[in-house]
Amino acid sequence: MNNRWNKVIYKFWAPFYDYLFNSGPFLKARKKIFESLDITPNSKVLFVGIGTGADLQFILGKNVSVTAIDLSPEILGRAKNQYDTPNVTFMEMDAQNLTFSPESFDMVIANLILSVVPDPNQCFQEMIRVTRTGGRILIFDKFAPPSRELPVMKKILRPVVALMGTDIGLHFEQIIMPYEKQIRVDEDASALFNGMYRKSCLEKLQDNSWQVTGRGK
Ligand SMILES: C[S@@+](CC[C@H](N)C(=O)[O-])C[C@H]1O[C@@H](n2cnc3c(N)ncnc32)[C@H](O)[C@@H]1O
Repeated sequence: MNNRWNKVIYKFWAPFYDYLFNSGPFLKARKKIFESLDITPNSKVLFVGIGTGADLQFILGKNVSVTAIDLSPEILGRAKNQYDTPNVTFMEMDAQNLTFSPESFDMVIANLILSVVPDPNQCFQEMIRVTRTGGRILIFDKFAPPSRELPVMKKILRPVVALMGTDIGLHFEQIIMPYEKQIRVDEDASALFNGMYRKSCLEKLQDNSWQVTGRGK
């Protein structure tokens, strides 16, 4: 996967996206995730890879200020059309190279994005960087079962499915492992399809100087 292909493929998905991922079981899962989410009023919230804005319906009534970024102008255009409100600032941006200052947001929400970006480790590092110390990160995504090798069929299908714009072989544990002293996992639970999609809530415990001085020290 690379950014150029992601732009092409998500331009293609844009007109159908909501039929697939903002309806039926996905809509139900999103609703449940946001129902249980406790957000302090006036929080600054960043959505990484907002897509068509499927999650915005659950957060706009909560009196928060929202910044929403995405790489694809077409899909971002759809989000803008649906949620034309002063509470949301939409920006075209690469999730692996966020242009925000460190510690800018109280909450960072990354739904169905780590499995999509070319470099999920870089994206996750950026998410931590822009979250304030004491702030939270919410992730809803599909991950391979923890500490298990991918079944042969999945290994074969992985590059084929990647052409459609998503990775079916990502291990969440490997992404968060380098940050085990900087973040705490408050929740990690099945969100959809018997654990294929998971909801994870993390808290940032230490500021970014920890990343400079050395991971895991
Ligand atoms: C599967 S969709 C998820 C959208 C939304 N978060 C949701 O839950 O429906 C993945 C999104 O990531 C965006 N994307 C792909 N590569 C990206 C990148 N490098 N930086 C930012 N967004 C990217 C795509 O344009 C698409 O909108």
